[in-house]
Amino acid sequence: MTPSDADYQRAVDLLLAGELVALPTETVYGLGADAANPAAVAKIFAAKGRPADHPLIVHLAGHDAVEAWAEQVPDVAWELMETFWPGPLTLILKKQAWVPDAVTGGQDTVGLRVPGHPVALELLRRFATAKGSHAGIAAPSANRFGRISPTTAAHVAEELGEAVPLILDGGPCAVGIESTIIDCSRGEPVVLRPGHISPLHLEAVLGKAPAIETSHGAPRVSGSLEAHYAPITPLRVVTGERLLDFLNAQRHRGGTCGVISPNQPPQAGMPHAWRMLPADPVGYAHDLYAALRDMDHAGVDLIVVEALPAGAEWTAVADRLRRAAAGAGQN
Ligand code: TXA
Ligand code: MG
Repeated sequence: MTPSDADYQRAVDLLLAGELVALPTETVYGLGADAANPAAVAKIFAAKGRPADHPLIVHLAGHDAVEAWAEQVPDVAWELMETFWPGPLTLILKKQAWVPDAVTGGQDTVGLRVPGHPVALELLRRFATAKGSHAGIAAPSANRFGRISPTTAAHVAEELGEAVPLILDGGPCAVGIESTIIDCSRGEPVVLRPGHISPLHLEAVLGKAPAIETSHGAPRVSGSLEAHYAPITPLRVVTGERLLDFLNAQRHRGGTCGVISPNQPPQAGMPHAWRMLPADPVGYAHDLYAALRDMDHAGVDLIVVEALPAGAEWTAVADRLRRAAAGAGQN
């Protein structure tokens, strides 16, 4: 799973030449390009089929690179970096004037993150050494726009295949859902996208619960579109109590279902695909995207996901499931 010296060298050469490299992070795999090179960044949008006004996260090798990209960095942002970097947290900050519009979607802010994956960090360090100044890797999740984010190198190949000259394999992603995004550019920090770093973790640093922005309005966050992270097969969320009745009714109608449940073991006599996920939010997040992807391959008519428990610790996966359901079955 560890890339060789030659793999890293090839990755750095490709990035310097304005080409794309897919890389593992602890959250999901990213589709990377030299963030200071607008022509390279344009290739990301082309490969993903992503609208050009959606800004990208710039990945950095360490805190000391932050001020090359961001200005007026507030104290609270430094505290968050100290606590959570390297790790699954993205900070939105006022950008330096030079940072290309291609990366920011024309906004006056930039999203920055130091990822907590050894392969990503090694690549970022080598890229920084080779490039000198302004070394950052712009990387959205390495899926086609609106689809399920990849959590293995094989998923990336399945999503983007020929469009990426090199996929660095760092094994399955430890977290499995995208980073928590916090906007620190407008005074009080605001959570724009929930993630592995939960409101409770943030409260411990901030001294109070952070504000959480609902999906409406600016700034543009593609992860906040109502339909996102979506399988190709239609998806329904059904409560645990109704699950077996629902499946029986589907069977009577001749429909095949793929079930994702943290509680119910596979039922005898039901010819459905069935996947049990861990019943804790961290384990569930780790396996969710791979399970959705498996169901897309299982040839079922409908993916049936058992409704999640209420509770703040389930916020991030509940958010992804809601959007997956909204976007499912549209292809
Ligand atoms: O975990 C992650 O964040 C992964 C890995 C690869 O790092 N990346 C990821 O990127 O999820 P992407 O592009 O799929 O989602 C990034 C989100 C988008 O919704 C984008 O709109 C938002 O970050 N974003 C980036 N820069 C922003 C900015 N300046 N203001 C507001 N939102 C921003
Ligand atoms: Mg994405």
